[in-house]
Amino acid sequence: MLLKKAADMGSSEITPRGLYLNRRKFLAGTAIAGAALGVPAVSRLFSPSTIAEANAKIDGIQKSAFSTSEKITPFKDVTNYNNYYEFSTDKYEPAGLAKDFKTRPWTVTIDGLVKKKQVLDVDTIIKMATPEERIYRHRCVEGWSIVVPWVGFSLNELIKRAEPLGKAQFVEFTTLYAPNQMPGQRVPVLDWPYVEGLRMDEAMHPLALLGFGMYGEVLPNQDGAPLRIVIPWKYGFKSAKAIVRIRFTDKQPVNTWNKAAPSEYGFYSNVNPHVDHPRWSQARERRLGEFLKRPTLMFNGYDQVASLYSGMDLKKNF
Ligand code: MTE
Repeated sequence: MLLKKAADMGSSEITPRGLYLNRRKFLAGTAIAGAALGVPAVSRLFSPSTIAEANAKIDGIQKSAFSTSEKITPFKDVTNYNNYYEFSTDKYEPAGLAKDFKTRPWTVTIDGLVKKKQVLDVDTIIKMATPEERIYRHRCVEGWSIVVPWVGFSLNELIKRAEPLGKAQFVEFTTLYAPNQMPGQRVPVLDWPYVEGLRMDEAMHPLALLGFGMYGEVLPNQDGAPLRIVIPWKYGFKSAKAIVRIRFTDKQPVNTWNKAAPSEYGFYSNVNPHVDHPRWSQARERRLGEFLKRPTLMFNGYDQVASLYSGMDLKKNF
């Protein structure tokens, strides 16, 4: 993700392939220093007291019918190539910079147009429903994609328990604001904290995931620990990391990237090969680790959400 005015911060918003391969070779060559890069060394068994530890295994994960059977992207790529502006605008830096990020104690405030306004401990949320492995395609607006075995459960499990009022039409998600821990927040590159939003029916769709793990383990910090959302039919920036607040509202939330560059990033941001980004085509994508690009699918291939948008002009509502 880059702002138009920041286009000259790097030669391209998408890391050139050669450079990426060189960096990957570099990463592979420094496997011994893996701990510093967030590569797991040992896995520990999950228990409530260890869940806060990075790379702890999560017990009792069930398979999901929503999973794709496509080849899973290697863990090392998904955890060393991240968009996480709270830590850095460089995709290779969040792994190292988020290493000591504190994910406990952690609470999530549920408020706005909801019957049960409350502040919940993240571990209470995690235990609300059976964890599922959801192998989802995840498409970044910049043109790369990954296939990740996320662990979590449908966001609607939490929403139902909060009992939103009839007037609630949207849900807003806010990321932690902690510039002492998140060095990227000391720079006004975005209007912090990071905010995202969904229409209520989108948030209630069973595909919308509340995620707290990946590859059978607790989420690595750079991928959004301790709690994030994963909306597989939308561009990656809708999937806010490290959320601390879920607010129900009757007005469409102003999401961070829309605020930063309204002509480039909309509210809906459904993956759509027919609507180009003003500065590049969205027709194709490169799966991390692959050489040739593949066609991008409407709604990232999640056709079951199409009915949410029937009658809407998706060129206007991009
Ligand atoms: N959430 C926060 N809080 N800050 C961010 O910078 N980047 C978004 C999204 N969620 C971002 C965020 C973007 S642009 C993408 S593509 C995905 O996270 C990347 O998720 P990943 O690093 O786990 O692949």
